[in-house]
Order: sequence, then C-alpha cells, then structure tokens
Amino acid sequence: MSVRRIGGGVLRKKTGENVFETVSYEMRFLGIGDLPLIMTLQEIVARNLPDHEIFRIDSEEYFRKHFSGPQNVIGVISEGELAAYCVISFPGIEEDNFGRDIGLAPEALSRVAHLETMAVHPAYRGNSLQRKIGRIHLGILQAMRCEHILCTVSPKNYPSLRNLFFFDFTIRALKIKYNWMLRYILYKNIRNPVRLTPAERIWVENSDAETQRELIERGYAGFEAVRGNGEDFKIAYGR
Ligand SMILES: CC(C)(COP(=O)(O)OP(=O)(O)OC[C@H]1O[C@@H](n2cnc3c(N)ncnc32)[C@H](O)[C@@H]1OP(=O)(O)O)[C@@H](O)C(=O)NCCC(=O)NCCS
Repeated sequence: MSVRRIGGGVLRKKTGENVFETVSYEMRFLGIGDLPLIMTLQEIVARNLPDHEIFRIDSEEYFRKHFSGPQNVIGVISEGELAAYCVISFPGIEEDNFGRDIGLAPEALSRVAHLETMAVHPAYRGNSLQRKIGRIHLGILQAMRCEHILCTVSPKNYPSLRNLFFFDFTIRALKIKYNWMLRYILYKNIRNPVRLTPAERIWVENSDAETQRELIERGYAGFEAVRGNGEDFKIAYGR
C-alpha cells in the first residue's frame, strides 16, 4: 500500500445520459509526478463550465508551488484517471492572504490556511467528493497550528457554496479577486468553530451583490443557500 494513500471505496460514475457505473477509487496525496493528471482534469472541468467566471484556471507553475507541502494536494483516482483534486496553501503574511480581505488582525495572518482550488470531473459529480476531501484537509489543518481557514467561491457556484456551508464556513466578504472574478470570501475558525443559528434570517438573491455587501458591512454573515426554480438561488444572512 502506498504511504500516500488516504482511503478508497466505490463511486458512481456517469457513463452516458442517465447511465451510471459503479467504479472503485483511491484517495491519496498527489505529488509533482501527478501534474499531468491535474492539468488534464483542470482542462476537462474548464471545457464543461457553464460560465467561465466560476472557476479560475491555474498554471503548472501554480501547482508546482503548492506541492511544497506533502499533504497540500489530495486527489481521487479511478481507473487511472483523476476524478477530483483539492489544494490547500499557507499564505503566511503575503499580500494575497484572504485574511486581509475580511480584516483579520495582522498577528493572525500567520495562522491562516487557504482552501485553494477544487475540481471534480463532470462524470464523478454527486459523490460528495468535495466534502470527502474537505473533511481530510480540515483534519490535517486542525492537527497543524492553523486557526483561520479561508477560501473564495463564485456567487454563481451553488454546489460549492452548499458544501462549504456544510462545514460551517460563512460568507465574510464579496469582492473582485483574480483581476476580474466576483468572489465570496468564506471563513471558518477551526479552533473555535461556530455554527450560526440566528433568530433573524435575511434572504438575498445570490446575484444581488449590493445588498449582500451592505449586510456584511453591518456585521451579517452568509451561512445557507437554497435554490428555487432555475439557476438563481438565495443566501441566508444572519448575525
Ligand atoms: C463544486 C464541485 C467541486 C462539487 O462537486 P461534487 O463534490 O461532486 O458535488 P456534490 O457531490 O456535493 O453534488 C451535490 C449535487 O450537486 C450536483 N452538482 C455538483 N456539481 C455540479 C455542477 N457543477 N453543476 C450542476 N450540478 C452539480 C451533483 O450532481 C449532486 O446532485 P444530486 O444530489 O442530484 O446527485 C464541482 O461541481 C466542480 O468541480 N465544479 C467546477 C469547478 C468548481 O466550481 N470548483 C470549486 C471552486 S470553489
């Protein structure tokens, strides 16, 4: 058994319109040798996006940099192909530390980790792979000296938001990141996790950036997403 193996089991793979197969998978830490698999999956995911603002495309250089820690990149492999990957990083006091976007104190920045990027092959979606990998990565971060976990998600990305709310991340900012992409900044304190259960909930359309920014300014945080008919959905804010 590979020392980089984390776990395994079976997945439901979509092989055609309403056709599914049961396949086995292995979850393991990825290394530099897996870069071709990552670049291939990134390209497949990018090609299948309904909207290119949802997903940031990263260079080989970016991934090389993030292989610096042995547990930074987790992948799910099935039948020789990559079904999913997720990257974590430790921005230190760099300018791109998302802690700065939500006003974390300067001395807290060294205890920040980012959930960087995550992708699931379209044929393997619906197997909760974002949650399965997320649980492992959050466990790793908890065992380290990290406290503040942050990530960015597009306001159009309903599946990813739902999965982050599942882990009790909350929306703390909404701004342009990566030059042109509108992003929520989500936050979770893993040393003192808090589940928001406010008496009052204010529901806002995901596309209504202005109202959401006003609420955040007034100390509200987004913590739940519910979809009606169609692509739009509502976010619950509370404090
Ligand atoms: C976001 C993402 C990682 C979630 O993948 P996942 O872990 O397989 O998603 P889940 O298992 O939680 O899916 C829950 C439901 O949403 C559906 N779903 C998941 N991703 C979907 C998508 N991109 N579009 C439409 N439906 C999607 C699943 O089929 C499932 O439906 P079901 O309950 O009817 O079976 C994946 O959609 C993805 O790779 N998207 C493109 C890249 C991206 O957005 N990355 C995240 C950036 S923050």
